[in-house]
Amino acid sequence: MASNTTSLKALLTFASGLLSQLPLGSHQSSSGGSVASIPFAEAPSCPSDSPLSCHNSTAAKDSCCFIYPGGQLLSTQFWDAAPAVGPADSWTLHGLWPDLCDGTYPTFCKSAPQYHNITQILTSAGQTSLLADMETYWLPNSGTNEHFWQHEWNKHGTCVNTLAPSCYASSYNSGVEVVDFFARAVEVFKGLDTYKALAAAGITPTHSKTYTKAEIQDALTQVTGSEVVLGCSYGKLNQAWYSFNVKGSLQTGSFVATAPAGKGGRGNCPTRGIRYLPKRGSSSVDSEDTMNDAQNEL
Ligand SMILES: *[C@@H]1O[C@H](CO)[C@@H](O)[C@H](O)[C@H]1NC(C)=O
Ligand SMILES: *[C@@H]1O[C@H](CO)[C@@H](O)[C@H](O)[C@H]1NC(C)=O
Repeated sequence: MASNTTSLKALLTFASGLLSQLPLGSHQSSSGGSVASIPFAEAPSCPSDSPLSCHNSTAAKDSCCFIYPGGQLLSTQFWDAAPAVGPADSWTLHGLWPDLCDGTYPTFCKSAPQYHNITQILTSAGQTSLLADMETYWLPNSGTNEHFWQHEWNKHGTCVNTLAPSCYASSYNSGVEVVDFFARAVEVFKGLDTYKALAAAGITPTHSKTYTKAEIQDALTQVTGSEVVLGCSYGKLNQAWYSFNVKGSLQTGSFVATAPAGKGGRGNCPTRGIRYLPKRGSSSVDSEDTMNDAQNEL
């Protein structure tokens, strides 16, 4: 993970070098139109020996390089089978949430401003491939994408101190922190392939058998080396949360996997008899069972 971050930084340094030489940039173009920006290019640059969030033994000096107080970041995923949300062979992204280091969490904070135009911000920043990823993987189980993304930003993103406009100093442009938050959340998500890790352990979506919590936990602990918080609804597996501490900022820091804080987090799956159902509409769905499931949900 550390080496990924290093190469990412090298790439960004290279890319922002290019930006200064070409008539491109994240600022207004002369024609008044909007142009592409590069995620993280304007984020605070942090020393590689920045303290690990939730682990400092003395006061950490530069708060733009130290996530505090919400230093435990949860990358959370959904598995929504009925109705199906997202690809049949992938979990979807729920959010990237800053928790305090004890299993509790702040919401709707004032570290960064609220926004009600996430799609517009990403579009005007030229983030078409980020938006395409979000339209594939970052999906609500009800309501519009835009509303869900606003909710995630306003409830959780605004609580991350390193996303504060002041961390961008004089180069701050309204909304740049939103681009960075969504870009980093998607990047972290892409490193956490829950579907594949479960499949590698023989845990595939099916109507014909159930799984134990220990089997699922063991399979998903392989993803980062740390325990995952599992969520169930009516005995059906539908959430997985991965916990991280960060050295540096959310934008450019290294994410270090860690155990869930506070009594193993807020997982609620039963010990055994857990169902992991195919997404409705995918080829292996048994329609009769699906109907029964739908009735159970009512
Ligand atoms: C960790 O850093 C924060 C922010 O500077 C500070 O408020 C907190 O007291 C520090 N924790 C310890 C144990 O020193
Ligand atoms: C998004 O909304 C904010 C105000 O909430 C505004 O300042 C900004 O210009 C908007 N951005 C875009 C790209 O429309």
